[in-house]
Amino acid sequence: MSDSHVYPVMPSIAQKAHADEAKYQALYQQSITDPEGFWREQGQIIDWIKPYSNVKHTSFDTGHVDIRWFEDGTLNVAANCIDRHLKDKGDQIALIWEGDDPNDDATLTYQALYEHVGRFANALKAQGVKKGDVVCLYMPMVMEAAIAMLACARIGAVHTVVFGGFSPEALAGRIIDSNAKVVVTADEGVRGGRAVPLKQNVDEALTHPNVKSIEKVVVYQRTGGDIDWHNHRDVWWHEVTENASVDCPAEEMQAEDPLFILYTSGSTGTPKGVLHTTGGYLVYAAMTFKYVFDYQDGEVFWCTADVGWITGHSYLVYGPLANGAKTLLFEGVPTYPTTARMSEVVDKHQVNILYTAPTAIRALMAKGNEAVAGTQRNSLRIMGSVGEPINPEAWEWYHSTIGNQACPIVDTWWQTETGGILITPLPGATPLKPGSATRPFFGVQPALVDNMGNLLDGATEGNLVMLDSWPGQMRTVFGDHDRFEQTYFSTFKGMYFTGDGARRDQDGYYWITGRVDDVLNISGHRMGTAEVESALVAFNKIAEAAIVGVPHDIKGQAIYAYITLNAGEVPSAELHKEVKEWVRKEIGPIATPDFIHWTDALPKTRSGKIMRRILRKIATGETGSLGDTSTLADPSVVDKLIAEKESVV
Ligand code: WTA
Repeated sequence: MSDSHVYPVMPSIAQKAHADEAKYQALYQQSITDPEGFWREQGQIIDWIKPYSNVKHTSFDTGHVDIRWFEDGTLNVAANCIDRHLKDKGDQIALIWEGDDPNDDATLTYQALYEHVGRFANALKAQGVKKGDVVCLYMPMVMEAAIAMLACARIGAVHTVVFGGFSPEALAGRIIDSNAKVVVTADEGVRGGRAVPLKQNVDEALTHPNVKSIEKVVVYQRTGGDIDWHNHRDVWWHEVTENASVDCPAEEMQAEDPLFILYTSGSTGTPKGVLHTTGGYLVYAAMTFKYVFDYQDGEVFWCTADVGWITGHSYLVYGPLANGAKTLLFEGVPTYPTTARMSEVVDKHQVNILYTAPTAIRALMAKGNEAVAGTQRNSLRIMGSVGEPINPEAWEWYHSTIGNQACPIVDTWWQTETGGILITPLPGATPLKPGSATRPFFGVQPALVDNMGNLLDGATEGNLVMLDSWPGQMRTVFGDHDRFEQTYFSTFKGMYFTGDGARRDQDGYYWITGRVDDVLNISGHRMGTAEVESALVAFNKIAEAAIVGVPHDIKGQAIYAYITLNAGEVPSAELHKEVKEWVRKEIGPIATPDFIHWTDALPKTRSGKIMRRILRKIATGETGSLGDTSTLADPSVVDKLIAEKESVV
């Protein structure tokens, strides 16, 4: 990758930016040399009920991992996102909603948001939800999704948002693990002109024999479509809020009380419940939002992520609202009903800051100028990218075609686990290199290590780790602190291991090269190979399965599945379809294999371990560099697999 193409900071942006280069350098230095002092000051970006005196209490020592920030302070997240803005911004817009149908839109002022959240918070209480209870949100992209999150925060309930694209089976797994008491959903969602049967999925999930915790299902009426109704359990959103008071006191929460659980895929086992807490998370979300997007009062910010992902939590809801911003929530998809929909939404709502994903950018790039047909996009000032490495071609296209060459691009690297952005340019401070996430945010200490955990200096490549904590860091895996330590702190002792590889250039810029573990990134969505494999082997005709990722022009990665059938079963087009259907049902459409490779045997070591390295090479056609195959129990399977690949579809 060439580093030669550098976009200098635009003076017009630097001039009024929250941080120019000098300020970035000064604050970054302070944040590293005196983290306590730095965060003591920065913690004031939000309002505290009882001020904190202990700022940082963190340890990455394997066996004693313990992460606490602003520990003795108390606050309420919803009060920070709404109430404190009422005096100055009560009649200003907080949420802008753009429907799937371009004729549908709506807005809520901060005052109106306050009232909706208060009503729903009281309604939740009336349904028996108490402080510390878990509420599962399985919602389409409607304003009520944000309202429900904030209502939970207001009463100290812990939300766990499950992406509406996940299957009933996946939803059930998350309900079981989180022990949720209530599900909030909608009759149906609408995406790209099609209805998504959310309530039906909930009904199905709740028939799972191990789902025992759910007492109520609150249903928001989005389409009025036909749904089943269970009187003892189901209640309508509009009915439970109708007579509810808007007045709901904000619960005083400890900084380390849980705010939410969000499930994400890892390299092994079932998805992990990533637990984020109240004070540190909000400080970090608020501060990164302000600096990374250089948010200026009155601007319209649009993050295209679904609320079901961490990006939707931190930069659709909490970060923007904590800053009193106008945040846009879009129900649809970037290419419906026209290829230019994303650009049309930008013009319609005069969006100033656009935050989207490389997979969307590449899908639009494939359509060329059609993606911007009939639009100006001259309201745009800053654009962001997140979810996977952005290839320089897509970066350049985003910059020139969507952004009219007028907007800095912030390529933001972070994870569900990190709560907020860790490596990123700042618009007024950082010269940009297309494809590089550039430099650490305040308080973030990235490093590269070799496979033995030795720190590497200078321009080099290695495993990306963090040497110290930041306030937005996850605190634990819900219900399994051992797994938290094992997953993130045992590979390299005393360091947080990200699971990503990266290169650092001579200017100290980071270039993320992608996952170095068995986690796939499909269209910016994380998917564990183990997760898809266990779904596959649960199918009654499948004996064994192995999943690898292969490069894909638009999705970044595609899923390539090696499948061994049970004796007596034969591969067929019919079975191919059945297998795909099965995975959609078990996990959701995003986990559907793109390629199925039927085979009689997988390459295994003598101890029975599948050699994925070899499977990856075969799937990508790099058969000239298979490496050592002598440790295989049966080296002849390799030639067979290579020959079979010819007929893989
Ligand atoms: C990848 C999404 C390169 C990375 C916020 C990480 C990125 C995983 C970038 C986390 C980026 C995210 N450049 N890679 N700008 N942003 N990733 O948990 O592999 O859904 O580990 O969080 O996405 O995905 P997650």
